[in-house]
Amino acid sequence: MMTRQYDEVRAVDGVDFTVSAGELVAYLGPNGAGKSTTIKMMTGVLVPTRGILEVNGAVPWRDRERNGMHIGVVFGQRSQLWWDLPLIDSLAMLGKLYRLPDATYRRNLDRLVELLDVTPFLYQPVRQLSLGQRMRGDLAAAMLHEPDILYLDEPTIGLDAVAKVRMRDFVAEMNRDNGTTVVLTTHDLVDVETLCNRVILIDSGRVLYDGKLSDLKARYAPHRILVAQLAADPVPAGNRAEALRAGIPGEVVSDEDGVLKIRFEAARVSAQEVIAAVNDHCVVADLSIVEPDLEDVVRTLYGDREVV
Ligand SMILES: Nc1ncnc2c1ncn2[C@@H]1O[C@H](COP(=O)(O)OP(=O)(O)O)[C@@H](O)[C@H]1O
Ligand SMILES: [Mg+2]
Repeated sequence: MMTRQYDEVRAVDGVDFTVSAGELVAYLGPNGAGKSTTIKMMTGVLVPTRGILEVNGAVPWRDRERNGMHIGVVFGQRSQLWWDLPLIDSLAMLGKLYRLPDATYRRNLDRLVELLDVTPFLYQPVRQLSLGQRMRGDLAAAMLHEPDILYLDEPTIGLDAVAKVRMRDFVAEMNRDNGTTVVLTTHDLVDVETLCNRVILIDSGRVLYDGKLSDLKARYAPHRILVAQLAADPVPAGNRAEALRAGIPGEVVSDEDGVLKIRFEAARVSAQEVIAAVNDHCVVADLSIVEPDLEDVVRTLYGDREVV
C-alpha cells in the first residue's frame, strides 16, 4: 500500500474583518498570503475548515445561489466568460441565469457596454479578445445583475497603463454611483492609492494591518523627502554634505547635479525647519516635498517579497 505525506498549509489562519456596505477595500499581501483563498471563501467556492463567515447575513458556501445573486467576481488570471462564444452570448446567458427581466437586462447591458466601451468587440468570441478587452468583458459580466458586492482578484494584472486607468475609473464609478461594495486584491499599488481608503494587509494568512491608507503610511512610512534644486553652488558638494549633516534635522540622501535630497521624519521635524536649514547652506531655486507612497510602506512591511 502506498502512503502519501501531506503538509498542511493554513492558507488563512485567524483572519478577522468586517466590511460595511459601500466600502472600497484593498486586500493586500505578498504572494501566497491567502488573498485568493479568502475571496474564494467569500464567494462560496471554498469551504473553510473552521470559523465564521457571513456575507449579507448568509453563509456563502451554504447558499451559493443566493449569494451569487448579490455578488460579482472578476479573477484577473482566469476569465469567467465562455471562451468560444461571442461576448454578447455570454452576457445573454448570464442575464438568463440571473433571471433578469428583459428591460433590466437591456438597460444594464446598454449602460455597461457604453461605460466599458465594449461595442467594438461585443460580437467577437472571447478567445479572440485582447487581455484588456477580455477584462472589460469580464467586468460587464460581473456587474450585469447589479450586485451589491464586487470582488476583484488582481483585475489589472497584465493590463497596459490605459486599460488600467479605464478599469479604475469604472470601479470608482460603480462604487460612487451604484454604492457597490468592492473588495480588491492587486499587485499594482497605484490601484490602491487611486481607489481605496481602507487597506487590509495580510501575511501568512493573518491580518497585519486593517485601517486607513493614510494612517498606514503615517505609521510605516513616516519620512518625507525634501528635494531642493540648487541655483548656485557656493559650497562644493562634498563639503556641503558635511556642513549640512551638522546643521540640518534630517539625512542627506543624495547631492548630485545640483539636486539635493534630504530625508526627514514628518512627526519630529517640520518641513519649514528643514527648508530653513537648507537655505542657510545653499541657494535654492526650487523646492518640493515628496510624500512616501504605498510602495515604501509595503517594502518596510514585507521586505523584498513581491506583493501580488
Ligand atoms: N488548491 C490548493 N492546494 C494547496 N495549497 C493551496 C491551494 N491554493 C492555495 N494554496 C496555498 O495556500 C496559500 C495561500 O494561497 P492564495 O490564497 O492563493 O494566496 P494569494 O492569493 O495571497 O497569493 C499558499 O501557500 C498556497 O500555496
Ligand atoms: Mg491570489
